[in-house]
Amino acid sequence: MDERLAPGVSVGFAEPARGTAGPEADQPDSLASTTTVFICTRCRLPGSDRAAEPLDGERLLTALLDAARGAMSPTGPEIRGVACLSNCNRPCTVAFVGPGKLTTVYGELGTDPEDAAAVLAMAGLYAASANGITVWRDRPERLRRGLIACVPPFGFVGDPVLAGHDTAR
Ligand code: FES
Repeated sequence: MDERLAPGVSVGFAEPARGTAGPEADQPDSLASTTTVFICTRCRLPGSDRAAEPLDGERLLTALLDAARGAMSPTGPEIRGVACLSNCNRPCTVAFVGPGKLTTVYGELGTDPEDAAAVLAMAGLYAASANGITVWRDRPERLRRGLIACVPPFGFVGDPVLAGHDTAR
């Protein structure tokens, strides 16, 4: 296991979505990944050459896939590129998603192997969390800033913000 990952958490790589194709599709649920990491492939870092290929987001995705292949686990995160996460002004952007958990979106990432390692480590923390909430001091240094959004999961009935009011309408 990569020592940069959270203790007791293994992180791997699964290319095809569950239920679509490939070896992951045939795995029992107990071995299937419960975390997906989305990487915006269209992000461009400030000052980058507008005509440069690949784009910075694609470079981060490639770095992440390279890092994940070295830490392969059947229960590791699914890693997927997505065209835009609507955080275009604070690139590069990633999102951590899991069933019943807060979706968390981070920006201000770079494209080097250390950024990829930080994203993998964060995926491990996210996977180990009960609800998608991770402790700030436990996060990789590069993800202690740049938190853009926390989105409640489908079916979340709401926090009791207003006494006497049902927020689940
Ligand atoms: S281009 Fe990356 S978030 Fe929009």
